[in-house]
Amino acid sequence: MTMKETIDEIRNQLDFEITKVNSLPELDQFRIKYLARKGIIAELFETLKNVPPDQKPSLGKELNELRTHAQNLHDEKKNNLESNQSSQSELIDITLPGRRKWIGSLHPITQTLNEIKSIFLRLGFEIASGPEIEDDYYNFEALNFPPDHPARDMQDTFFISKKTLLRTHTSPVQIRVMEKQQPPVRVIMPGRVYRNEAISARSYCLFHQVEGLYVDTNVTFSELKGTLVAFAQQFYGSDLKFRFRPSFFPFTEPSAEMDISCFLCKGKGCRVCKYAGWLEILGCGMVNPNVYKFVNYDPMKVSGYAFGMGIERITMLRYGIDDIRILFDNDVRFLKQF
Ligand code: PHE
Repeated sequence: MTMKETIDEIRNQLDFEITKVNSLPELDQFRIKYLARKGIIAELFETLKNVPPDQKPSLGKELNELRTHAQNLHDEKKNNLESNQSSQSELIDITLPGRRKWIGSLHPITQTLNEIKSIFLRLGFEIASGPEIEDDYYNFEALNFPPDHPARDMQDTFFISKKTLLRTHTSPVQIRVMEKQQPPVRVIMPGRVYRNEAISARSYCLFHQVEGLYVDTNVTFSELKGTLVAFAQQFYGSDLKFRFRPSFFPFTEPSAEMDISCFLCKGKGCRVCKYAGWLEILGCGMVNPNVYKFVNYDPMKVSGYAFGMGIERITMLRYGIDDIRILFDNDVRFLKQF
């Protein structure tokens, strides 16, 4: 093959190979193969030394043209590829609606707590809190629990030591508030409580309560009822029915439990109210005079009422949640719905 033929052959090869180049890395391969310092065209210039002197000028001219041709093919392709790339990025459809970011929500327990707090704040109550790790004294003794009361049993209480425990209810905060403050006292005390019970769909080792306490002179049971009915009507709706059933707590006398008509079946009877038509929502009563002795209040001068309600129970009834554990799982798929 003469040098002239080689040059023509390579020209054809260039024209063909450039059509196969579809990306910048491929184009770089093309450049290295033909145009680099050790590429095919440079090698041809090298062999130019060996051709007869009379052919050198014309072959040199041909080779220069070949190199320019290769360079042009390369540059043109480069432009194409680069402008393609930018037009591809313009293929993004900017009219598509954006993906909405989920910004989180308040836990349903927090929402219920907030609502209860705001109702009682409007009724003139203040908010107080106390420790979750308590002394036996505040959790039981000052609340008039006899030493052998079953609630002190290991099965209900998480003891940390003989005299220290995780509070089983928010009632010890009543004692702490009354120790610090003289009547009139009108507070609610929200917080977490712990019970050593078998974990199931209906009970968990921790839950929340809101405690209420009002102590003043001449506080009556009808004020207790009036306040709780006002609360329940704001929280559950004004069309509900309610009733108070006698009950027992060591720290209240008399004691009662408050039921509301089932808001799901309107009292007809359903699975949620276990076909009773009624739902128990809280415990309450007049503060037992024995309790006043522990906080240096004069039982002859003051009287008051207290109540306590479980927040998980209320929240579950409200949203139709049938397993308490889901409230503690922190599963975003569940929490997202609130
Ligand atoms: N502490 C009681 C409980 O946990 C509820 C309660 C509070 C009852 C205040 C009466 C008065 O069950």
